[in-house]
Amino acid sequence: MPKLNIGLTEEQLQGVINLLNADVSDMYLLLIKTKKFHWDVVGPQFRSLHQLWEEHYEALTENIDATAERVRMLGGYPVGTAEGFLKLSSIEEHAGDLPNTTEMVQRLVNDHEQIIRNLREHIDQCAEEFHDAGTADFLTGLMEQHEQMAWMLRSFIEGEALESNGRRSNVSQKSVAASVM
Ligand SMILES: [Fe+2]
Repeated sequence: MPKLNIGLTEEQLQGVINLLNADVSDMYLLLIKTKKFHWDVVGPQFRSLHQLWEEHYEALTENIDATAERVRMLGGYPVGTAEGFLKLSSIEEHAGDLPNTTEMVQRLVNDHEQIIRNLREHIDQCAEEFHDAGTADFLTGLMEQHEQMAWMLRSFIEGEALESNGRRSNVSQKSVAASVM
């Protein structure tokens, strides 16, 4: 690793690089899953989901690139092999499975939530353990994007819980009435 004189020790830099490489790997696996569902989806929500997933994998592609380039900025080398992505990722694959639309959406919500939980920990580690406010800020931006993508996906499934009278079957009317929405 080349010597960088930016106020971080080699150990701190390496710690941050390791976190970023784990995040690149998670996003790469999620990119593959999002693209696969973009191809496979059928049914009344085809057009909406096909387009939404195209937007999501375009955003993921940009974010993977920015994260990998941040590894280079900190003097490291980004993971860039399928084997490496699989080894470092916390995202689960379901090869050979063709889920229905609701299950596709649910799996992607779960994956975005997994990444949000990881990023939240990594932000704390960058700020506290590794003294790297820049990467903590960068990862905060990524986390906010995943929160938005997860919300958009979750909204597809929540809509399916609506009954013909417009009420949600899985929410008690008492709790709805008690809130101000
Ligand atoms: Fe496409």
